[in-house]
Amino acid sequence: MTVTIVGSQLGDEGKGGIVDLYGEEADVVVRYQGGDNAGHTVVHEGEEYKLSLVPSGAIRDKVGVLGNGCVVNPRTLFDEIDTLRDRGLEPDVRVARRAHVILPYHRILDGIEEEAKSESDQKVGTTGRGIGPTYEDKAGRRGIRVGDLLDPDVLRERLEYVVPQKRALAEDVYGVETGEEFDVDALYEEFQEIGERLAENDMTVNAGEFLDDRLAAGENVMFEGAQGTIIDIDHGNYPYVTSSNPTAGGAATGTGLSPAVAGQGEIIGIVKAYLTRVGKGPLPTELGGVEGDTPGYDAEAGNDTDELAKYIREEGGEYGTVTGRPRRVGWLDMPMLRHAARVNGFTGLAVNHLDVLAGLDEVKVGHAYTVDGETKLTMPATTEQWGDCDCEFRVFEGWPEVDWADVAADGYDALPENARAYLEYISDELGAPVYAIGVGPGRSETIVCEQPW
Ligand code: GDP
Ligand code: IMO
Ligand code: MG
Repeated sequence: MTVTIVGSQLGDEGKGGIVDLYGEEADVVVRYQGGDNAGHTVVHEGEEYKLSLVPSGAIRDKVGVLGNGCVVNPRTLFDEIDTLRDRGLEPDVRVARRAHVILPYHRILDGIEEEAKSESDQKVGTTGRGIGPTYEDKAGRRGIRVGDLLDPDVLRERLEYVVPQKRALAEDVYGVETGEEFDVDALYEEFQEIGERLAENDMTVNAGEFLDDRLAAGENVMFEGAQGTIIDIDHGNYPYVTSSNPTAGGAATGTGLSPAVAGQGEIIGIVKAYLTRVGKGPLPTELGGVEGDTPGYDAEAGNDTDELAKYIREEGGEYGTVTGRPRRVGWLDMPMLRHAARVNGFTGLAVNHLDVLAGLDEVKVGHAYTVDGETKLTMPATTEQWGDCDCEFRVFEGWPEVDWADVAADGYDALPENARAYLEYISDELGAPVYAIGVGPGRSETIVCEQPW
């Protein structure tokens, strides 16, 4: 069977930890979209692993697959595999031949476009990993796929077509001087060697066929979503989104398995007990602000929720895994989560970071929006309208700081009563049971209510 792990908010909900938790029963863990813009953390027995590209099942020695929906930076992939080997793991990673390759010029173009947009205040605040430009080339049918790296003639032909275009874009449109990132010979040399390494290590697969065979043999496949629903290119707050589909439908298109395969399995929405966001865009439940990212926020002037925002940011260690940027924080946003529950069809929820909110007198939740005098229970389709939404808050009594390791060992009933009331509200509103509750970063700091397998 399959289990799909999906971020229900804006990324960094703690997906890596839940993949690791439920990964025990998985045989294969597959990423179906995104690339090294992801930063998934697994903490076990005091060891912390931060993974950008290698699926999080690697920590349990599960076979990892990067599906066709991913964009793969081979430099990151090999660096990450080597680092994990140095730490005593044996990552077995297969890469879809249909996946697209992030080339050095994609990263440069990502930076150039962000810079250009910043002049008109349209910057997205990307991770700078070249994700958008690579998906653009995929859609423009000028991308280079992993399979192309295995055939030097095809690689050469594709580079000769695309690289002069990219060079002209950088130089003639943006007026930026280019270097070897835009040089056909240098790129050919590096990437055909990468193709050789992939072939020598038998790392490339026809992902759909590979996964179908494993399922037919009775194995369990876990789909590891990266990013989150509200930064999905279709269902998120465009244009402040990533360029792929983190939502559950991506598990089919991004792997080569039928929607019925993922649809028959469990789809677990990962919910952070509050909200964080890295980068630009509206955030109706935001507390405090991060200058440059929060619309209209001026750090010097500050605002009356700054202290609370700083408290949550520090307690939760809310700094980007990939970029180290301070994450914007806010209260839980139920219209956002209702939208996510509909788009993804969650069969269960994992609610993380409940410990971070402990000790607050009260915990608020944006229960509904008011916009143009109307009450709305779900997100409007345009980002401008979303930015105009005011929140109607529900206030929950806070729960105390307790020994979370003990609570995790004792189970759900050991949670403080007010924390249980909060979880029950979330579950009722979304019509999905809570399968797991994170009360700390480690594998053992999780209350497991249901096993999805
Ligand atoms: P992902 O991108 O969704 O995998 O999440 P990240 O790894 O980027 O960010 C989640 C951060 O919170 C990591 O540092 C995790 O170790 C940590 N974390 C995950 N679950 C919990 C939790 O329940 N409580 C606390 N305090 N930290 C958690
Ligand atoms: P994980 O998997 C949080 C955000 C960036 C930016 C926007 C577009 O760790 O949850 P991109 O580089 O993808 O073109 O950036 O998306 N973003 C993330 N935010 N967690 C992530 O991944 C993210 N991946 C991208 O900050 O706003
Ligand atoms: Mg992350």
